[in-house]
Amino acid sequence: MTFVPYDRPVRAAFVGLGRIYDLNVRGYIGNPGVEVVALVDPNEERRAQRQADWPDAATFASAAELAASGLEVDTAEVLLPVMMHADGVSELLDFGWHVNLQKPMCNSLAEAQRMLDAAKANDRILRVMDNYLFYEPLHRLKTVAESGELGGVVGYHMKMVGTGNGGWDVPWSSFEWQIDQMKRGRGIMVFDDGWHKLTTAIWLFGPIREVRAWIGNLAVGPGIDLETPATLVWEHESGIRGVWDITIAMDMYLRSDYYTNDERWEITGSKGFARVNRCTGRGIQQPSLEVYADGEMRGYHALDDDWGSSFRDSGRYWLRWLHTGEGPLLWSGEEAVDVLRFALAAYESSAKGGIGVDPADVA
Ligand SMILES: NC(=O)c1ccc[n+]([C@@H]2O[C@H](COP(=O)([O-])OP(=O)(O)OC[C@H]3O[C@@H](n4cnc5c(N)ncnc54)[C@H](O)[C@@H]3O)[C@@H](O)[C@H]2O)c1
Repeated sequence: MTFVPYDRPVRAAFVGLGRIYDLNVRGYIGNPGVEVVALVDPNEERRAQRQADWPDAATFASAAELAASGLEVDTAEVLLPVMMHADGVSELLDFGWHVNLQKPMCNSLAEAQRMLDAAKANDRILRVMDNYLFYEPLHRLKTVAESGELGGVVGYHMKMVGTGNGGWDVPWSSFEWQIDQMKRGRGIMVFDDGWHKLTTAIWLFGPIREVRAWIGNLAVGPGIDLETPATLVWEHESGIRGVWDITIAMDMYLRSDYYTNDERWEITGSKGFARVNRCTGRGIQQPSLEVYADGEMRGYHALDDDWGSSFRDSGRYWLRWLHTGEGPLLWSGEEAVDVLRFALAAYESSAKGGIGVDPADVA
């Protein structure tokens, strides 16, 4: 890879202008390191709506039209439905643009390889963003775990409750392709939202050597199958074990500015514990991070625990990276494949009755 950092504002195109654009755009607004030159979406209404943010940007119904226009683009912010990632991203890389791709990377290892090959062939960067890695309470949790103040880490757990009421509006069109994904065995709980949780597991404690899973099914409508209740258990190469439980509480109201996820991360150490109490939604109204050690509980009251800020910081990180080329990509395409393997290992384990599966062995 012969990446040369930019010494001028990078010229960016947004490809996909749907629901999550509202948060991804936060890293770009007021950022002198970027010039948003193009907006791409086949949906005319979406183009008109987003044009208000970038009056000087040109709009296109497809990336091919943008490429054919001759407008210079350095990087694409890719916010497409997941099943379009492999073809869409390969096309953009072939145009010679760097790509910042929303998670999940894609549905299969073959699709992932296609994107990695396209990045290599075109000498471009493929980043698979995960905003959770920029959520300040999780950052502080990692720092606490590494500082030794909990003693040695003896285990950890994550919790996800999808609640039925509250939050922002999600248009039916954003949900339709998720139903297609469910039919492909890539559900919204374990795979789509789950991508974040599995990413944080690898980010916190490193490579995984064994995964065991028991993934249930809650049919809430024709073709709408939610993968709950589900329990995933795994062991890192370090020997640390993690467990993640996923449930749906259909009638629960959760205050949230975004999706209605009630989430927790809790690390147990030999002499204390640390817990992130919430993330996407505003569930537990305690400090977003609490640390117990030596008989004392410490609450972190001043962290930026607005989930939306994690998108802003992830976007800014990427745009800064393009100007320096320094530090990890958080996440690189190759690191994202580890997350994909983790998810695929969970599906394989569950299908085989919960046996242990090494993500490295997933075909
Ligand atoms: N980080 C997070 O927490 C988070 C949250 C939600 C969604 N996501 C991810 O973001 C991505 C998009 O999700 P969303 O909820 O915004 O979906 P969405 O359906 O709201 O938006 C997708 C947009 O892509 C457009 N589109 C379709 N085909 C296109 C094409 N060929 N070229 C350009 N645009 C095209 C659609 O018209 C739509 O406007 C997915 O990968 C999803 O998993 C991430």
